Amino acid sequence: MQHDTLIFKPSDEFRRQANLSGLENYQALWENADNNYLQYWSDLARELITWKKPFMQIFDDSNPPFYKWFADGTLNVSYNCLDRHLPDKGDKIALTFESDFGQVSQFTYAQLHNRVCRFANALRELGIQKGDRVIIYLPMIVEAIIAMQACARIGAIHSVVFGGFSAGALRDRIEDAQAKIVITANAGLRGGKIIPLKETVDEALELGCKSVENVIVYHRVNIDTPWKKGRDLWWNELSKHQPAFCEPEWMNAEDPLFILYTSGSTGKPKGVVHSTAGYLLGAMNSFYTVFDHKADDIYWCTADVGWITGHSYICYGPLANGASQIIYEGVPSYPDAGRIWRMIQRHKVSVFYTSPTLIRSLTRLGDHIPKKYDLSSLRLLGSVGEPINPAAWLWFYEIVGGGRCPIVDTWWQTETGSLMLSPVPGINAMKPGSCTLPLPGIMADVVDEQGNKCETEEAGALVIKRPFPSMLRNVWGDPERYKSNYFPQEYGGGKYYVAGDSAHRDKDGYFWILGRLDDVLNVSGHRLGTAEIESALVAHEQVVEAAVVGKPDEIKGEAVVAFVVLKGIRPDGEEAKQFAEELKLWVANEIGKIARPDDIRFAENLPKTRSGKIMRRLLRSIAKNEMITQDISTLENPQIIGQLQQQVI
Ligand code: PRX
Repeated sequence: MQHDTLIFKPSDEFRRQANLSGLENYQALWENADNNYLQYWSDLARELITWKKPFMQIFDDSNPPFYKWFADGTLNVSYNCLDRHLPDKGDKIALTFESDFGQVSQFTYAQLHNRVCRFANALRELGIQKGDRVIIYLPMIVEAIIAMQACARIGAIHSVVFGGFSAGALRDRIEDAQAKIVITANAGLRGGKIIPLKETVDEALELGCKSVENVIVYHRVNIDTPWKKGRDLWWNELSKHQPAFCEPEWMNAEDPLFILYTSGSTGKPKGVVHSTAGYLLGAMNSFYTVFDHKADDIYWCTADVGWITGHSYICYGPLANGASQIIYEGVPSYPDAGRIWRMIQRHKVSVFYTSPTLIRSLTRLGDHIPKKYDLSSLRLLGSVGEPINPAAWLWFYEIVGGGRCPIVDTWWQTETGSLMLSPVPGINAMKPGSCTLPLPGIMADVVDEQGNKCETEEAGALVIKRPFPSMLRNVWGDPERYKSNYFPQEYGGGKYYVAGDSAHRDKDGYFWILGRLDDVLNVSGHRLGTAEIESALVAHEQVVEAAVVGKPDEIKGEAVVAFVVLKGIRPDGEEAKQFAEELKLWVANEIGKIARPDDIRFAENLPKTRSGKIMRRLLRSIAKNEMITQDISTLENPQIIGQLQQQVI
């Protein structure tokens, strides 16, 4: 594999002010982390976290792969994010919220602490206790962060469900977590439109969810809100009379902090369980080093709290570091294509963390739009969620960053909890498209099926060879799946954390992510299981069989292509078009708009091997309009190839 050897070094100016700088120091740090692994992590845990009871045990691997870190220590995450800043940063702005229609409100650390405490007291009054599960289904408003922090304060395990997920997807998550409470808003605002949420919660609860006792509703929009007396409660009514202090629940380091559902290769999303101390340490430490955090930074991450990026790099990492950040409710293109740049100018954003999809969609609109705005406050840029193609990287670097801001291309996952591979911006030279090197204390490598290190430029599985503090602890209710999915026998005999991505390293040891090894798609940086979309399709009464694959997309990275077999005669022409639209809408209603197929093709049959397995590689080639090189001699009905190639326009 050949790469253009474009290399960008951080400027001397950036290097001089960076939290970590000097390649030699860094190499020494890296080697120290490698040679004194447990010491490295325990020193950081003692230095960065405020403990109620300090830990004595660093690491417990007596029951692999159920590892424990700092297990006899106690702490509270909300205390670490809020209370400990109050003596000297109580008046510092923690959150600047910009609404969809451009209204701005700000919250200091003291004000945020007050809101979190009052809401936490309200939850306690409703009987929520340590270990109870709470679903958060909110738009990107400050209350989403307040709700997460309030759960952390009383030891309730939150599970945030992205506001774009449908009632069915919400129900599945509520039921799997057996949640006692759902926190929602009557609606959200996006792109000038009202997006109802309470109705979706009602619909989900009608589908089951016997564990739910109450629904707390934040009044976001002046609309009529459907109401179930006795079950539904207004957020403001509940919290306005509550005391302004809430005693934190002192948690054991290994108690779960949250569950976050993510797609895997089977139909059912997995509830990734994160711990209290190890997770906090990962989010805090990486925010400081990779985002080079400074007290006067204005940081903005465009993710939604429904995804892991919104957990680690909005709710927990920045607050634990006492940072000031921007929270944005709306979409990048509303009311016009200058929104993002205008917000950077307006709030003097210095560190901007976003996704390649957003960069690509804004690149397309032309350089003249960002050039109209003063972006000189920016000093550091970041990218996450999917591979960033060199053209998008260069545009981000030159046009947005004015050639002076390093870009941290951060590779990580819901399961890793915090950044794993990324430049440290005052140190590493950057290569567009590569997430460069593992952070200190992260033993990442690329290995073959036997677990042997791959040669330079040889593709293999991306693994992490030693357990690290912010690693997931389990799959909620399914320890077997945790074991077999992340510590499989392939690629290292069950010893290594297997990320599910393929990668290779270049001659400088830099990592290049090639894509997923499993049937997981990455659409606009969102993880979607092909099996999840297939089961949504076959739930339609007319669908007999469906197979879903990805194909490259210029903006979204990957697009969803569905091959569908219907009952009766294969539709054609206008009929096929109408049916394709119906099925797209069906999937959007079953899962959420993010899963809506871009392309649906109808065939009388799907191509299968002799043992009856769908030939996905063949389908991927067909979706990409590639020449077919696979052996198709075993196909019962070769003329279906022609049908599968036919796009419904
Ligand atoms: O395939 C990798 C891709 O996103 C997957 C993780 O998705 P998720 O758990 O939803 O978390 C996304 C945000 C951390 C990975 O397995 N991915 C993530 N970051 C990058 C990436 N691919 C290439 N480059 C990245 N920087």
